[in-house]
Amino acid sequence: MNYNIIKKNILLEGKTKIIYKTNNSFKIIIHHKDDLTALNGLKKSCLLDKGVLTNEISTLIFKFLNYSGIKTHFIKKINNREQLCHKVNIIPLEFVIRNIVTGSLSKRLGIKEKKKIPNGIIELFYKDDKLGDPLINESHAIFLEIISHEELIYIFSIVKNINNLLKLYFFNKGIILVDFKIEFGRNKNNEILLSDEISPDTCRLWDRNTMKKLDKDLFRMEFPKKEKIFDSYMEILKRLNK
Ligand code: TMP
Repeated sequence: MNYNIIKKNILLEGKTKIIYKTNNSFKIIIHHKDDLTALNGLKKSCLLDKGVLTNEISTLIFKFLNYSGIKTHFIKKINNREQLCHKVNIIPLEFVIRNIVTGSLSKRLGIKEKKKIPNGIIELFYKDDKLGDPLINESHAIFLEIISHEELIYIFSIVKNINNLLKLYFFNKGIILVDFKIEFGRNKNNEILLSDEISPDTCRLWDRNTMKKLDKDLFRMEFPKKEKIFDSYMEILKRLNK
């Protein structure tokens, strides 16, 4: 399909992506930057061509999800750093899905790392930098008028579906999907679409045989090695392309 899209000025810039308006008010262009951030932006760095890798990896994952019947904002990759997407109003909630205990869940509840979570755990975080993206529950989200009860039920069912699809998708590539974060938005018809990105920046991905980390946790460490981060993202891309 030819959209004859012309890139216009910046709509907004986030920590790792720039969103551009286009000549079509219902379409946007998402540009992946090379910036790496952690701890709510407190830790920052730049990794040459990381944006090329996250753009390509996210493209492959969104193509797979579109093909599997999940409604997403993704239309197509247009160059090595950019994707054409449907414009949505992002719902200010981060949905974190966990299949294995680690990260903030392990610290918060004092559970031993690496314990399996058979049916997965879904957590909600309120996207607000000033508040440090706090963990909230469904009643909070409804009270904040971010989302309705019906929309939440609908999103929870999609989230479970996405988790089942991606767990198997990664497993077949020799990767364990430990946990990940996804976001949703509403399009012009108020339809809820999976949005943002899915990449080693937003997932914990471990090698199935060695349990080695292949994701942004390598940057969250005390003394991150940039080459190792790049090589791990590259390894993910190589396996997804197989
Ligand atoms: P956590 O263990 O630090 O809460 O992270 C859970 C998962 O969510 C992990 O895969 C990283 C991802 N995540 C993001 O992508 N962005 C965020 O802002 C946060 C807090 C987590």
